[in-house]
Amino acid sequence: MITVFGSINLDLVVALPRLPTAGETVSGRDHQTFPGGKGANQALAARRAGATVRMVGAVGQDGFAELALENLRESGVDLSRMHVLNGSTGLAFIGVDPSGENQIIVASGTNQRVEAQWLEGCFSSGDTLMVQGEVPFPQVVQAAGLARDADASVFWNPAPVAEGDFRACFEAAGTVVVNTSEAATIANGLGIAGDPVAFAEQLATPKRSVIVTLGADGVVARSGTAGYRFQSPKIEAVDSTGAGDAFCGAVAAALDRQVPFERALKEGVAAGALACTVTGAQSSAPHREDIARLADQIV
Ligand code: RIB
Repeated sequence: MITVFGSINLDLVVALPRLPTAGETVSGRDHQTFPGGKGANQALAARRAGATVRMVGAVGQDGFAELALENLRESGVDLSRMHVLNGSTGLAFIGVDPSGENQIIVASGTNQRVEAQWLEGCFSSGDTLMVQGEVPFPQVVQAAGLARDADASVFWNPAPVAEGDFRACFEAAGTVVVNTSEAATIANGLGIAGDPVAFAEQLATPKRSVIVTLGADGVVARSGTAGYRFQSPKIEAVDSTGAGDAFCGAVAAALDRQVPFERALKEGVAAGALACTVTGAQSSAPHREDIARLADQIV
Protein backbone atom coordinates (compact mmCIF):
# COMPACT_ATOMS: atom_id res chain seq x y z
CA MET A 1 0.00 0.00 0.00
CA ILE A 2 1.26 3.48 -0.86
CA THR A 3 0.20 6.48 1.22
CA VAL A 4 0.82 9.90 -0.31
CA PHE A 5 1.03 12.81 2.15
CA GLY A 6 1.10 15.97 0.06
CA SER A 7 -0.50 18.72 -1.96
CA ILE A 8 -3.69 18.88 -3.99
CA ASN A 9 -4.22 21.76 -6.41
CA LEU A 10 -6.47 22.80 -9.20
CA ASP A 11 -4.29 23.70 -12.22
CA LEU A 12 -5.26 26.57 -14.55
CA VAL A 13 -3.23 26.01 -17.72
CA VAL A 14 -2.62 28.49 -20.56
CA ALA A 15 -0.74 27.70 -23.79
CA LEU A 16 1.65 30.60 -24.49
CA PRO A 17 3.78 31.53 -27.52
CA ARG A 18 6.69 31.71 -25.03
CA LEU A 19 7.17 31.84 -21.27
CA PRO A 20 7.32 35.35 -19.72
CA THR A 21 10.50 36.78 -18.20
CA ALA A 22 10.34 38.71 -14.87
CA GLY A 23 8.02 41.71 -15.13
CA GLU A 24 6.70 40.71 -18.55
CA THR A 25 3.14 39.97 -19.65
CA VAL A 26 2.59 37.31 -22.32
CA SER A 27 -0.95 36.63 -23.54
CA GLY A 28 -2.40 33.23 -24.38
CA ARG A 29 -5.93 32.34 -25.41
CA ASP A 30 -8.34 30.14 -23.40
CA HIS A 31 -7.31 28.37 -20.24
CA GLN A 32 -7.91 24.72 -19.38
CA THR A 33 -8.61 23.43 -15.87
CA PHE A 34 -7.07 20.20 -14.55
CA PRO A 35 -6.72 18.50 -11.16
CA GLY A 36 -3.08 18.81 -10.03
CA GLY A 37 -0.69 19.28 -7.12
CA LYS A 38 2.46 17.19 -6.79
CA GLY A 39 1.01 14.97 -4.07
CA ALA A 40 -2.23 14.26 -5.92
CA ASN A 41 -0.41 13.81 -9.24
CA GLN A 42 1.93 11.24 -7.70
CA ALA A 43 -0.98 9.45 -6.03
CA LEU A 44 -2.82 9.16 -9.35
CA ALA A 45 0.35 8.17 -11.21
CA ALA A 46 1.08 5.40 -8.69
CA ARG A 47 -2.53 4.22 -8.89
CA ARG A 48 -2.49 4.09 -12.70
CA ALA A 49 0.84 2.27 -12.48
CA GLY A 50 -0.95 -0.45 -10.56
CA ALA A 51 -0.55 0.36 -6.84
CA THR A 52 -3.16 0.54 -4.09
CA VAL A 53 -3.00 4.19 -2.98
CA ARG A 54 -4.28 6.39 -0.17
CA MET A 55 -4.10 10.20 -0.39
CA VAL A 56 -3.75 12.26 2.82
CA GLY A 57 -3.95 16.04 2.51
CA ALA A 58 -6.32 18.99 2.63
CA VAL A 59 -8.66 20.91 0.36
CA GLY A 60 -10.66 24.06 1.14
CA GLN A 61 -14.36 24.66 1.57
CA ASP A 62 -14.76 26.04 -1.93
CA GLY A 63 -15.89 25.12 -5.42
CA PHE A 64 -12.40 23.98 -6.44
CA ALA A 65 -12.12 21.10 -3.98
CA GLU A 66 -14.29 18.53 -5.75
CA LEU A 67 -12.73 19.33 -9.14
CA ALA A 68 -9.27 18.87 -7.63
CA LEU A 69 -10.22 15.47 -6.16
CA GLU A 70 -12.20 14.20 -9.16
CA ASN A 71 -9.50 12.02 -10.80
CA LEU A 72 -8.35 10.50 -7.52
CA ARG A 73 -11.93 9.58 -6.61
CA GLU A 74 -12.68 8.11 -10.05
CA SER A 75 -9.49 6.05 -10.13
CA GLY A 76 -10.13 4.45 -6.73
CA VAL A 77 -7.56 6.27 -4.58
CA ASP A 78 -8.59 6.01 -0.90
CA LEU A 79 -9.65 9.52 0.20
CA SER A 80 -10.96 8.57 3.64
CA ARG A 81 -8.21 10.59 5.40
CA MET A 82 -8.60 13.72 3.31
CA HIS A 83 -9.45 16.87 5.29
CA VAL A 84 -11.67 19.78 4.31
CA LEU A 85 -10.49 22.98 6.02
CA ASN A 86 -11.69 26.58 6.10
CA GLY A 87 -9.81 28.42 3.37
CA SER A 88 -8.94 27.94 -0.27
CA THR A 89 -7.99 24.79 -2.14
CA GLY A 90 -4.49 25.06 -3.64
CA LEU A 91 -4.37 26.64 -7.09
CA ALA A 92 -1.58 26.48 -9.67
CA PHE A 93 -1.28 28.96 -12.55
CA ILE A 94 0.64 27.25 -15.34
CA GLY A 95 1.97 28.63 -18.63
CA VAL A 96 3.15 26.13 -21.27
CA ASP A 97 5.26 27.10 -24.30
CA PRO A 98 5.20 25.38 -27.74
CA SER A 99 8.12 23.08 -26.76
CA GLY A 100 6.13 21.79 -23.75
CA GLU A 101 8.25 23.67 -21.18
CA ASN A 102 6.28 25.20 -18.31
CA GLN A 103 6.30 27.89 -15.65
CA ILE A 104 4.21 27.41 -12.50
CA ILE A 105 2.97 29.78 -9.79
CA VAL A 106 1.25 28.10 -6.84
CA ALA A 107 -1.20 29.57 -4.32
CA SER A 108 -0.81 26.85 -1.67
CA GLY A 109 -4.03 27.50 0.28
CA THR A 110 -4.94 24.62 2.59
CA ASN A 111 -1.87 22.60 1.53
CA GLN A 112 0.03 24.80 4.00
CA ARG A 113 -2.05 23.46 6.89
CA VAL A 114 -1.71 19.69 6.53
CA GLU A 115 -0.72 17.81 9.69
CA ALA A 116 1.48 14.72 9.87
CA GLN A 117 -0.62 13.44 12.77
CA TRP A 118 -3.36 12.66 10.24
CA LEU A 119 -1.14 9.72 9.27
CA GLU A 120 -1.29 8.05 12.70
CA GLY A 121 -2.10 4.35 12.24
CA CYS A 122 -1.68 4.47 8.44
CA PHE A 123 1.44 2.33 8.09
CA SER A 124 2.31 -1.35 8.32
CA SER A 125 5.67 -2.99 7.67
CA GLY A 126 6.44 -2.99 3.93
CA ASP A 127 4.14 -0.04 3.11
CA THR A 128 5.38 3.07 1.32
CA LEU A 129 5.00 6.75 2.23
CA MET A 130 5.43 9.27 -0.62
CA VAL A 131 6.18 12.89 0.29
CA GLN A 132 7.08 15.99 -1.73
CA GLY A 133 7.90 19.65 -1.05
CA GLU A 134 4.55 21.37 -1.51
CA VAL A 135 3.48 20.95 2.12
CA PRO A 136 5.38 22.35 5.14
CA PHE A 137 8.78 20.71 5.58
CA PRO A 138 8.46 20.06 9.37
CA GLN A 139 5.28 18.05 8.65
CA VAL A 140 7.13 16.09 5.94
CA VAL A 141 9.92 15.24 8.40
CA GLN A 142 7.38 14.17 11.03
CA ALA A 143 5.49 12.06 8.46
CA ALA A 144 8.73 10.36 7.41
CA GLY A 145 9.48 9.56 11.06
CA LEU A 146 6.03 7.99 11.56
CA ALA A 147 6.52 5.80 8.49
CA ARG A 148 9.98 4.67 9.57
CA ASP A 149 8.75 3.85 13.08
CA ALA A 150 6.25 1.46 11.46
CA ASP A 151 8.93 -0.07 9.19
CA ALA A 152 7.37 1.50 6.08
CA SER A 153 9.71 2.86 3.40
CA VAL A 154 9.86 6.58 2.62
CA PHE A 155 9.92 7.84 -0.98
CA TRP A 156 10.96 11.51 -0.86
CA ASN A 157 10.69 13.89 -3.82
CA PRO A 158 11.75 17.32 -2.47
CA ALA A 159 10.00 19.32 -5.20
CA PRO A 160 9.98 22.24 -4.91
CA VAL A 161 12.96 22.34 -2.57
CA ALA A 162 12.08 24.09 0.71
CA GLU A 163 14.42 25.53 3.30
CA GLY A 164 15.02 23.07 6.10
CA ASP A 165 17.17 20.36 7.59
CA PHE A 166 17.56 18.09 4.57
CA ARG A 167 19.57 15.60 6.63
CA ALA A 168 16.53 14.61 8.71
CA CYS A 169 14.63 13.60 5.58
CA PHE A 170 17.63 11.90 4.00
CA GLU A 171 18.03 9.82 7.14
CA ALA A 172 14.44 8.56 6.91
CA ALA A 173 14.25 8.13 3.13
CA GLY A 174 14.70 4.80 1.33
CA THR A 175 14.37 6.46 -2.09
CA VAL A 176 15.11 10.09 -2.98
CA VAL A 177 14.18 11.60 -6.37
CA VAL A 178 15.39 15.06 -7.40
CA ASN A 179 15.84 16.92 -10.67
CA THR A 180 19.11 18.69 -11.48
CA SER A 181 18.18 22.05 -9.96
CA GLU A 182 16.89 20.43 -6.77
CA ALA A 183 20.11 18.40 -6.57
CA ALA A 184 22.16 21.59 -6.93
CA THR A 185 20.19 23.38 -4.18
CA ILE A 186 20.42 20.47 -1.75
CA ALA A 187 24.10 19.91 -2.54
CA ASN A 188 24.74 23.57 -1.79
CA GLY A 189 22.93 23.23 1.57
CA LEU A 190 24.91 20.11 2.45
CA GLY A 191 28.23 21.42 1.13
CA ILE A 192 28.71 18.57 -1.37
CA ALA A 193 29.15 18.33 -5.17
CA GLY A 194 25.92 18.98 -7.07
CA ASP A 195 26.50 17.33 -10.44
CA PRO A 196 24.02 14.46 -10.85
CA VAL A 197 26.38 11.47 -10.74
CA ALA A 198 28.41 12.81 -7.81
CA PHE A 199 25.23 13.79 -5.97
CA ALA A 200 23.78 10.29 -6.25
CA GLU A 201 27.08 8.64 -5.31
CA GLN A 202 27.59 10.79 -2.22
CA LEU A 203 24.09 10.44 -0.82
CA ALA A 204 23.24 6.82 -1.64
CA THR A 205 23.78 4.32 1.18
CA PRO A 206 23.03 0.59 1.47
CA LYS A 207 19.55 1.58 2.68
CA ARG A 208 18.92 4.61 0.46
CA SER A 209 18.71 4.88 -3.35
CA VAL A 210 19.20 8.29 -4.94
CA ILE A 211 17.78 9.18 -8.35
CA VAL A 212 18.45 12.38 -10.34
CA THR A 213 16.09 13.02 -13.25
CA LEU A 214 17.57 14.81 -16.27
CA GLY A 215 14.40 15.79 -18.19
CA ALA A 216 14.64 14.72 -21.84
CA ASP A 217 18.08 13.19 -21.12
CA GLY A 218 16.65 10.51 -18.84
CA VAL A 219 18.00 9.66 -15.42
CA VAL A 220 21.07 8.77 -13.35
CA ALA A 221 20.81 6.83 -10.10
CA ARG A 222 22.68 4.95 -7.44
CA SER A 223 21.31 2.03 -5.45
CA GLY A 224 23.60 0.07 -3.18
CA THR A 225 26.94 -0.12 -4.97
CA ALA A 226 25.39 0.00 -8.46
CA GLY A 227 25.16 3.09 -10.65
CA TYR A 228 22.55 3.47 -13.42
CA ARG A 229 22.01 5.75 -16.39
CA PHE A 230 19.09 5.49 -18.82
CA GLN A 231 18.20 7.74 -21.74
CA SER A 232 14.60 8.86 -22.13
CA PRO A 233 12.83 7.48 -25.23
CA LYS A 234 12.32 10.09 -27.98
CA ILE A 235 8.82 11.52 -27.82
CA GLU A 236 6.89 14.51 -29.22
CA ALA A 237 6.67 16.75 -26.12
CA VAL A 238 3.42 18.69 -25.74
CA ASP A 239 3.43 19.55 -22.03
CA SER A 240 6.04 18.49 -19.48
CA THR A 241 3.82 19.42 -16.49
CA GLY A 242 3.58 16.43 -14.16
CA ALA A 243 6.28 14.39 -15.93
CA GLY A 244 8.32 14.26 -12.72
CA ASP A 245 5.23 13.20 -10.79
CA ALA A 246 4.49 10.43 -13.31
CA PHE A 247 8.11 9.29 -12.92
CA CYS A 248 7.82 9.19 -9.12
CA GLY A 249 4.45 7.43 -9.16
CA ALA A 250 5.64 4.73 -11.54
CA VAL A 251 8.92 4.10 -9.67
CA ALA A 252 7.17 3.98 -6.29
CA ALA A 253 4.48 1.62 -7.62
CA ALA A 254 7.13 -0.69 -9.08
CA LEU A 255 9.23 -0.71 -5.89
CA ASP A 256 6.10 -1.25 -3.81
CA ARG A 257 5.45 -4.49 -5.73
CA GLN A 258 9.10 -5.54 -5.19
CA VAL A 259 10.24 -5.02 -8.80
CA PRO A 260 14.09 -4.84 -9.09
CA PHE A 261 15.41 -1.28 -8.84
CA GLU A 262 16.71 -1.22 -12.43
CA ARG A 263 13.32 -2.17 -13.86
CA ALA A 264 11.55 0.34 -11.57
CA LEU A 265 13.85 3.04 -12.93
CA LYS A 266 13.04 2.12 -16.54
CA GLU A 267 9.32 2.18 -15.76
CA GLY A 268 9.77 5.65 -14.25
CA VAL A 269 11.62 6.92 -17.33
CA ALA A 270 8.91 5.46 -19.59
CA ALA A 271 6.13 7.02 -17.50
CA GLY A 272 7.84 10.43 -17.47
CA ALA A 273 8.23 10.37 -21.26
CA LEU A 274 4.62 9.30 -21.86
CA ALA A 275 3.39 12.04 -19.49
CA CYS A 276 4.94 14.70 -21.77
CA THR A 277 2.82 13.65 -24.75
CA VAL A 278 -0.54 14.85 -23.32
CA THR A 279 -1.59 18.23 -21.87
CA GLY A 280 -2.23 18.40 -18.10
CA ALA A 281 -0.47 16.86 -15.11
CA GLN A 282 -2.94 14.10 -14.23
CA SER A 283 -4.64 13.57 -17.59
CA SER A 284 -1.21 12.58 -18.92
CA ALA A 285 -0.35 10.02 -16.20
CA PRO A 286 0.10 6.73 -18.10
CA HIS A 287 -1.36 3.30 -17.29
CA ARG A 288 0.65 0.24 -16.28
CA GLU A 289 0.45 -1.61 -19.64
CA ASP A 290 1.66 1.44 -21.61
CA ILE A 291 4.47 2.05 -19.11
CA ALA A 292 5.58 -1.58 -19.34
CA ARG A 293 5.55 -1.59 -23.16
CA LEU A 294 7.78 1.50 -23.39
CA ALA A 295 10.02 0.41 -20.50
CA ASP A 296 10.76 -2.84 -22.39
CA GLN A 297 12.43 -0.71 -25.09
CA ILE A 298 14.79 1.12 -22.68
CA VAL A 299 18.27 -0.44 -22.52
O1 RIB B 1 4.35 18.89 -10.69
C1 RIB B 1 3.31 19.54 -11.36
C2 RIB B 1 2.39 20.22 -10.38
O2 RIB B 1 3.07 21.29 -9.77
C3 RIB B 1 1.16 20.83 -10.99
O3 RIB B 1 0.09 19.92 -11.09
C4 RIB B 1 0.87 22.01 -10.08
O4 RIB B 1 -0.27 21.86 -9.32
C5 RIB B 1 2.12 22.18 -9.23
O5 RIB B 1 1.89 21.79 -7.96
